[in-house]
Amino acid sequence: MNDYNTFRAVVAGTGAYLPEKILTNQDLEKSLDTTDAWITERTGIRERRIASEEESASIMAAHAGKIALVDGGIDPEELDLIIVATSSPDVLFPSTACFVQKELNAVGSAAYDISAVCSGFIFALSVAEQYLKVGRYKNILIIGSEVNSRIVDWTDRSTCILFGDGAGALLLKRGEQESPLGILSTHIYSDGNLSDLICVPGGIGRTGINKQDIDAKKYFINMSGNATFKVAVKRMTSVIREALEFNHLSMGEVELLIPHQANQRIVSAVAERLQYPMEKVFMNIHKYGNTSGASIPIGIDEAKRSGRIQEGDISVLGAVGAGLTWGSAVIKW
Ligand code: COA
Repeated sequence: MNDYNTFRAVVAGTGAYLPEKILTNQDLEKSLDTTDAWITERTGIRERRIASEEESASIMAAHAGKIALVDGGIDPEELDLIIVATSSPDVLFPSTACFVQKELNAVGSAAYDISAVCSGFIFALSVAEQYLKVGRYKNILIIGSEVNSRIVDWTDRSTCILFGDGAGALLLKRGEQESPLGILSTHIYSDGNLSDLICVPGGIGRTGINKQDIDAKKYFINMSGNATFKVAVKRMTSVIREALEFNHLSMGEVELLIPHQANQRIVSAVAERLQYPMEKVFMNIHKYGNTSGASIPIGIDEAKRSGRIQEGDISVLGAVGAGLTWGSAVIKW
């Protein structure tokens, strides 16, 4: 702790938005050489949501953001900052956050995107926490929003079965340092040496859009599934352990673990290493698949609204994503 930590970042509202269209494993069986049994057993996913033509990362983000603002009882004009974590932005630029700002009519706020893929929401939380702790801002809206369905190759059965679309939002407010509630810590990391594990290899800024790369499907998600799996388990476990040590907590004092929903087996392996019961792990991967940067805020919103988060509870968040990026956070509600 240093002298600049005068205030605390407190969660004042939550929101989520999922597209209506459901794509089940049975639907995928019709177009791919796959089975419901394979997907369910290897990933825990049974269905995922798919954005309609009218829905994009910014549209879904604005829906989730509006709900969080109502939940937190503030008007859009009171926002100081909007951060959107997305790896499927509406366009290369302007930022998706600027479109969200326009949609919300949040006149007067700053708005920008963060790119840390599946860890993006924890990165956004970490950035917002710093502004609030030093007293720079009062109200920050952070949103994770993804249209993965537009960046997966629907003929690649090893990736397309995993991902889904959706958005989740948290409204953070500046609270007093004496307050026992709020964000207790965030830890974030990156290792660019592992950038090949999961990536969209077609480089718009590197090579320009060209026919050769389009034909080679380089503008879609490319992943080394097995290697990613192992690294994800290791990094998510270690960064959660670091968060516990930082706060002098044991897993026994944590009421709910809300992990990035990458794969049921990744999360089970993390829980096993932490000797934490799966009953206390929030899971919704069976309904939504992997919604990248949106999965944690969607999980928080569902956990709050279903009563799985109560006042005074401690929750731990953990994520791993392309980059490689990984991070954790501890929240006291
Ligand atoms: N249906 C049926 N078979 C499939 C399949 C599908 N949808 N996808 C892959 N297979 C096949 C493979 O072709 C392979 O066949 P082969 O042995 O004949 O070559 C076999 O299943 C095993 O493939 P493998 O990649 O070893 O499977 P796996 O147990 O590692 O599971 C993933 C694959 C993708 C589910 C798993 O590696 C994974 O979840 N990795 C992490 C991905 C992730 O979470 N990424 C995001 C991190 S934020």
